[in-house]
Amino acid sequence: MTNLDQIVARALADLAAAADPAALENAKAGYLGKSGELTALLKSLGALAPEERKSAGAAINAAKGRLEAALDARRAELADARLSARLAGEALDVTLPARGRGRGGIHPVIRTWQRIEAIFGSIGFDVADGPEIETDWYNFTALNNPENHPARSMQDTFYIEDKDATGLPLLLRTHTSPMQVRYARQHKPPIKVIAPGRTYRVDSDATHSPMFHQVEGLWIAEDISFADLKGVYVDFLRRFFETEDLQVRFRPSFFPFTEPSAEIDMQFGDGPLKGRWLEISGSGQVHPTVVRNFGLDPERYIGFAFGSGLERLTMLRYGIDDLRLFFDGDLRFLKQFS
Ligand code: DAH
Repeated sequence: MTNLDQIVARALADLAAAADPAALENAKAGYLGKSGELTALLKSLGALAPEERKSAGAAINAAKGRLEAALDARRAELADARLSARLAGEALDVTLPARGRGRGGIHPVIRTWQRIEAIFGSIGFDVADGPEIETDWYNFTALNNPENHPARSMQDTFYIEDKDATGLPLLLRTHTSPMQVRYARQHKPPIKVIAPGRTYRVDSDATHSPMFHQVEGLWIAEDISFADLKGVYVDFLRRFFETEDLQVRFRPSFFPFTEPSAEIDMQFGDGPLKGRWLEISGSGQVHPTVVRNFGLDPERYIGFAFGSGLERLTMLRYGIDDLRLFFDGDLRFLKQFS
């Protein structure tokens, strides 16, 4: 093998062995660079006799051509390899199953809210909505609550620092009953409405929470009696609990805004609280003073109202014994309803 052949063989091996572009350019410099081996051979041509110079020159140029071709090929190979590696690194496997989004569910109390709207809606009750920050007048005074009623005290009511136009403190409504007054003052009789919503009291134990939900009901016309209250409400309960077999009692009670008044209790059917009575609603025939505050003549208009606890109804429906479960946000509890 001539010296030239040896150089070409080494050069081809070195180019092939270069693992990255920098190594490749180094290898190239060793043969084709300014002081490369092939360049040195070309420079030595001048010392040869003219005939020899011709054939040696042709051989060296041919070798140079081979090395340049090998260099180009190796450059392309390295670039390809680099692109393939990058593509492999960024590959998306579109055949993988999707990770999915957790499916949300409706909170059991909101489910109760929706069912109540559907049931009362089906017997002609309008659904109304109103502010959770209330004035003292709507929350208490208009509902015939005496100035010194304990519900007004700091222990029961969350007051906020802002005052209303009359200089009285605003408060978080303690019940949905102010909606009776708000709605009745805006509508003409017959008035037939429910108003579900959030209510607030300084209260916290297994059956009370500082924020809870009520639904207010009001039916005012010229001939609506306490008997209608019993009929409508028991019928609602039958449809809500999807059974005729209910233990319900109307227990005489007192509310400033109704006369006569009754509390409505229901007995747990199944579960750990089987047999225990739970108060689910206040109710009564609307007091004449309240009818007057509706802007109506109590000699002509009469009717009933009720205010029921949505958490209480939900507890009875599902046999839940602690109301705080509704507000803990524990997915193990909530998932049972979705
Ligand atoms: N607002 C009362 C409460 O939260 C419940 C109530 C009682 C509402 C009698 C009424 C009613 O509409 O007639 O304790």
